[in-house]
Amino acid sequence: MSVLYGPIAVIGGAGRLGSRVTRHLLDQGAQVRVVSRDPARNANRIAPGAELHRADVRYAATLGQALRDCTGIVFSVEPGTADSGPDSPETTMYDGVRNVLAAAGEYGLRPHFVLVSQIFVTRRHHPMNAYGRLLDWRLRGEDAVRTSTLPYTVIRPSWLTDDEPAGARVRLEQDDRGSGWVSRDAVAEACVHALRAPSAVGRTFELYNEPGAASADWPTLFARLAPDRVIDRA
Ligand SMILES: NC(=O)c1ccc[n+]([C@@H]2O[C@H](COP(=O)([O-])OP(=O)(O)OC[C@H]3O[C@@H](n4cnc5c(N)ncnc54)[C@H](OP(=O)(O)O)[C@@H]3O)[C@@H](O)[C@H]2O)c1
Repeated sequence: MSVLYGPIAVIGGAGRLGSRVTRHLLDQGAQVRVVSRDPARNANRIAPGAELHRADVRYAATLGQALRDCTGIVFSVEPGTADSGPDSPETTMYDGVRNVLAAAGEYGLRPHFVLVSQIFVTRRHHPMNAYGRLLDWRLRGEDAVRTSTLPYTVIRPSWLTDDEPAGARVRLEQDDRGSGWVSRDAVAEACVHALRAPSAVGRTFELYNEPGAASADWPTLFARLAPDRVIDRA
């Protein structure tokens, strides 16, 4: 449980999901570092009480200060969609993830790494993969996390909304066959609970809302998931 009290870096913490994660963590008394490419530009979207760090996951040298001595990292980065170059999914969701993993390991700590991915990543023929092979690179980023030595959780939200059109109950799946909606609030809760629940370590899951009341006993939901197996995709 103590993990929440060390510094926790929320990469993309000025974004719509990341700012919710930041608020939840601050409410629980955690020390939070919001990592943004331009904290001054995004200041109005950063919760008071968070430390601000300028860094860009594509450039490893920018990450050290933000990740120093962290006990947890939430990676909630919107991928580029260009076919190649600096704004491609490869640079953000693959190189970027690996840069963060490498920087996190530099201090000898083993922060819990929560990666926000998405549904569809195993469906190579989905139209979303037309944008710079977005799905392929996201999956490779996931694989980099799963094969790292860090404790981790990979969360694959379904389509994000800012309300609850599908209901408030959460459903976790693991076969990447479904589609649906999930609120950013529910995903933020999942991120924060994953950081503190041992039962979330080594798990990858899709996240949906469905009709019903919000009731989540997150540690129990995580404990029902199968642990990840390392898959050789070569
Ligand atoms: N939209 C959907 O339906 C959907 C579904 C499933 C999953 N997702 C994923 O869920 C995550 C959160 O989504 P969201 O809607 O909350 O996104 P968002 O509001 O666009 O926030 C994403 C953040 O990513 C940060 N970012 C982008 N490139 C970066 C870089 N190179 N280095 C560091 N930070 C970078 C940006 O922060 P700065 O500008 O401050 O640097 C931005 O605030 C994303 O990974 C998204 O792809 C979305």
